[in-house]
Amino acid sequence: MKAKYKIKQSWLWDKDISDFVESKINGYTLNICAGLSKIGDIKIDLDPRDPSVIKADMKKLPFDDNTFDTVIEDPPWKIGYFDRWQPFFECIRVCKVGGIVIYNAYWIPQSKYAELKELYIRQDNAFTNTSIISIFEKIKIELIGNIPIEVFNLND
Ligand SMILES: C[S@@+](CC[C@H](N)C(=O)[O-])C[C@H]1O[C@@H](n2cnc3c(N)ncnc32)[C@H](O)[C@@H]1O
Repeated sequence: MKAKYKIKQSWLWDKDISDFVESKINGYTLNICAGLSKIGDIKIDLDPRDPSVIKADMKKLPFDDNTFDTVIEDPPWKIGYFDRWQPFFECIRVCKVGGIVIYNAYWIPQSKYAELKELYIRQDNAFTNTSIISIFEKIKIELIGNIPIEVFNLND
Protein backbone atom coordinates (compact mmCIF):
# COMPACT_ATOMS: atom_id res chain seq x y z
CA MET A 1 0.00 0.00 0.00
CA LYS A 2 1.32 3.42 -0.94
CA ALA A 3 1.37 5.95 1.86
CA LYS A 4 -0.58 8.98 0.72
CA TYR A 5 -0.13 10.93 3.94
CA LYS A 6 2.68 11.19 6.44
CA ILE A 7 1.95 11.28 10.15
CA LYS A 8 3.93 13.91 12.03
CA GLN A 9 3.77 15.07 15.64
CA SER A 10 1.66 18.20 15.59
CA TRP A 11 3.86 20.02 18.12
CA LEU A 12 7.03 19.74 16.03
CA TRP A 13 8.36 23.00 14.65
CA ASP A 14 8.44 22.88 10.86
CA LYS A 15 11.45 24.14 8.91
CA ASP A 16 10.13 27.68 8.46
CA ILE A 17 9.51 28.23 12.18
CA SER A 18 12.77 26.53 13.09
CA ASP A 19 14.72 28.73 10.64
CA PHE A 20 12.93 31.80 12.00
CA VAL A 21 13.78 30.97 15.64
CA GLU A 22 17.36 30.14 14.65
CA SER A 23 17.69 33.54 12.94
CA LYS A 24 16.89 35.19 16.30
CA ILE A 25 19.39 33.34 18.50
CA ASN A 26 22.71 34.77 19.53
CA GLY A 27 25.62 33.24 21.50
CA TYR A 28 25.44 30.32 23.94
CA THR A 29 21.90 28.97 23.61
CA LEU A 30 19.65 26.78 25.76
CA ASN A 31 16.59 25.12 24.21
CA ILE A 32 14.02 24.07 26.85
CA CYS A 33 11.30 21.55 25.97
CA ALA A 34 13.42 20.92 22.88
CA GLY A 35 11.49 17.87 21.62
CA LEU A 36 13.20 16.97 18.33
CA SER A 37 14.52 20.46 17.65
CA LYS A 38 18.16 20.74 16.58
CA ILE A 39 18.54 24.35 17.75
CA GLY A 40 20.79 25.26 20.68
CA ASP A 41 24.10 24.36 22.33
CA ILE A 42 22.26 22.70 25.23
CA LYS A 43 18.84 21.08 24.78
CA ILE A 44 16.66 19.77 27.58
CA ASP A 45 13.36 17.91 27.73
CA LEU A 46 11.52 15.95 30.41
CA ASP A 47 11.16 13.08 27.93
CA PRO A 48 14.25 13.13 25.70
CA ARG A 49 13.81 11.42 22.32
CA ASP A 50 17.34 12.08 21.10
CA PRO A 51 20.73 11.39 22.76
CA SER A 52 21.72 15.05 22.32
CA VAL A 53 18.91 16.10 24.67
CA ILE A 54 19.42 16.18 28.47
CA LYS A 55 16.60 15.06 30.76
CA ALA A 56 15.54 18.01 32.90
CA ASP A 57 12.42 19.76 34.12
CA MET A 58 11.57 23.25 32.83
CA LYS A 59 10.33 24.11 36.37
CA LYS A 60 13.76 23.54 37.95
CA LEU A 61 16.57 24.01 35.46
CA PRO A 62 19.94 22.46 36.45
CA PHE A 63 21.91 25.59 35.46
CA ASP A 64 23.37 28.55 37.35
CA ASP A 65 21.87 32.03 37.14
CA ASN A 66 23.00 34.15 34.16
CA THR A 67 24.46 31.27 32.12
CA PHE A 68 23.03 31.64 28.60
CA ASP A 69 22.93 34.41 25.97
CA THR A 70 19.73 33.02 24.48
CA VAL A 71 17.05 30.84 26.06
CA ILE A 72 14.33 29.25 23.92
CA GLU A 73 11.23 27.65 25.44
CA ASP A 74 8.39 25.84 23.69
CA PRO A 75 6.37 24.52 26.64
CA PRO A 76 3.47 22.08 26.34
CA TRP A 77 0.37 24.16 25.74
CA LYS A 78 -1.87 22.12 27.99
CA ILE A 79 -0.39 23.47 31.19
CA GLY A 80 -2.74 25.23 33.57
CA TYR A 81 -2.78 28.99 34.09
CA PHE A 82 -1.01 28.82 37.47
CA ASP A 83 1.70 26.48 36.12
CA ARG A 84 2.90 29.03 33.55
CA TRP A 85 4.84 31.33 35.90
CA GLN A 86 7.66 29.15 37.20
CA PRO A 87 8.95 27.82 33.83
CA PHE A 88 9.20 31.37 32.47
CA PHE A 89 10.93 32.67 35.61
CA GLU A 90 13.45 29.83 35.22
CA CYS A 91 14.15 30.97 31.62
CA ILE A 92 14.84 34.48 32.91
CA ARG A 93 16.97 33.23 35.80
CA VAL A 94 19.40 31.25 33.61
CA CYS A 95 19.59 33.99 30.94
CA LYS A 96 22.34 36.61 31.18
CA VAL A 97 21.39 40.26 31.65
CA GLY A 98 21.16 41.66 28.10
CA GLY A 99 20.44 38.15 26.76
CA ILE A 100 17.17 37.12 25.10
CA VAL A 101 14.36 34.70 25.87
CA ILE A 102 12.32 33.37 22.93
CA TYR A 103 9.03 31.91 24.16
CA ASN A 104 6.39 30.11 22.06
CA ALA A 105 2.90 29.62 23.51
CA TYR A 106 -0.62 30.92 23.10
CA TRP A 107 -0.13 33.17 26.15
CA ILE A 108 2.37 35.97 26.68
CA PRO A 109 4.41 35.62 29.87
CA GLN A 110 5.67 38.48 32.01
CA SER A 111 8.47 39.21 34.48
CA LYS A 112 9.80 42.44 35.93
CA TYR A 113 13.26 41.22 34.90
CA ALA A 114 12.32 40.99 31.20
CA GLU A 115 11.41 43.61 28.65
CA LEU A 116 9.16 42.50 25.80
CA LYS A 117 10.91 43.41 22.53
CA GLU A 118 9.14 41.57 19.70
CA LEU A 119 5.91 39.61 19.15
CA TYR A 120 5.11 37.33 16.22
CA ILE A 121 1.96 35.34 15.49
CA ARG A 122 2.73 31.87 14.27
CA GLN A 123 0.27 29.77 12.25
CA ASP A 124 1.28 26.64 10.31
CA ASN A 125 -1.80 26.50 8.06
CA ALA A 126 -4.99 28.49 7.45
CA PHE A 127 -7.71 27.81 10.08
CA THR A 128 -5.26 26.05 12.40
CA ASN A 129 -4.53 27.25 15.93
CA THR A 130 -2.04 30.05 16.36
CA SER A 131 0.71 30.68 18.86
CA ILE A 132 2.67 33.76 19.80
CA ILE A 133 6.43 33.92 19.69
CA SER A 134 7.41 36.56 22.22
CA ILE A 135 10.99 37.76 22.49
CA PHE A 136 12.26 39.36 25.71
CA GLU A 137 15.50 40.95 26.80
CA LYS A 138 16.60 40.28 30.38
CA ILE A 139 17.08 43.58 32.16
CA LYS A 140 18.92 44.51 35.32
CA ILE A 141 16.77 45.33 38.34
CA GLU A 142 18.19 46.54 41.61
CA LEU A 143 16.27 46.83 44.84
CA ILE A 144 16.41 50.08 46.80
CA GLY A 145 14.68 49.08 50.02
CA ASN A 146 11.76 47.07 48.66
CA ILE A 147 11.42 49.15 45.50
CA PRO A 148 12.65 47.55 42.24
CA ILE A 149 14.62 50.01 40.10
CA GLU A 150 15.32 49.30 36.46
CA VAL A 151 18.97 50.08 35.69
CA PHE A 152 19.77 51.80 32.38
CA ASN A 153 23.20 52.42 30.95
CA LEU A 154 23.04 55.99 29.64
CA ASN A 155 25.71 55.13 27.04
CA ASP A 156 23.46 52.50 25.37
C1 LIG B 1 5.55 21.63 22.21
S1 LIG B 1 6.70 20.31 22.42
C2 LIG B 1 8.22 21.05 21.87
C3 LIG B 1 8.51 20.73 20.42
C4 LIG B 1 9.81 21.27 19.87
N1 LIG B 1 9.77 22.71 19.71
C5 LIG B 1 10.16 20.62 18.54
O1 LIG B 1 10.18 21.29 17.49
O2 LIG B 1 10.39 19.40 18.53
C6 LIG B 1 6.81 20.32 24.16
C7 LIG B 1 7.90 19.42 24.76
O3 LIG B 1 7.90 19.68 26.17
C8 LIG B 1 8.32 18.51 26.83
N2 LIG B 1 7.96 18.68 28.26
C9 LIG B 1 6.77 18.48 28.86
N3 LIG B 1 6.82 18.80 30.17
C10 LIG B 1 8.09 19.21 30.40
C11 LIG B 1 8.79 19.67 31.57
N4 LIG B 1 8.18 19.77 32.76
N5 LIG B 1 10.10 20.01 31.45
C12 LIG B 1 10.74 19.91 30.26
N6 LIG B 1 10.13 19.47 29.11
C13 LIG B 1 8.83 19.13 29.18
C14 LIG B 1 7.63 17.41 26.07
O4 LIG B 1 8.31 16.16 26.27
C15 LIG B 1 7.72 17.92 24.61
O5 LIG B 1 8.86 17.39 23.96
